[in-house]
Amino acid sequence: MTDKDVGHDVGTVYRLGAVEQIPAGEGRAFIIGAEQVAVFRLRDGTLRATQARCPHAGGPLADGQMDLTAIVCPLHARAFSFTDGRCPEGEVIAVHPAHEEDGEIVVEMIAAPVR
Ligand code: FES
Repeated sequence: MTDKDVGHDVGTVYRLGAVEQIPAGEGRAFIIGAEQVAVFRLRDGTLRATQARCPHAGGPLADGQMDLTAIVCPLHARAFSFTDGRCPEGEVIAVHPAHEEDGEIVVEMIAAPVR
């Protein structure tokens, strides 16, 4: 797969603006290249990032409920791990490293979304 296929430069670090765009305990979708990425600000203040669409039936993951370990898709409640992207039903999502730096959201795009 080439960079062109995934719609962004794999391994590239993107700054997405102020972390305050995302209230604690919520997620927001961002556009990076041709891809949508869901960024979550957990209740402990840390950030997580995944592909934006659920591979099961396209649910908007940024609108799901989360805890410190997983995001639950709002459509059919599959719970995807923030660690390895897996859910108990077998589907997997792309997980990208994310952190806060100087008050900004920083995401490193390391994988193509799973469709
Ligand atoms: S669309 Fe996400 S669990 Fe069905």
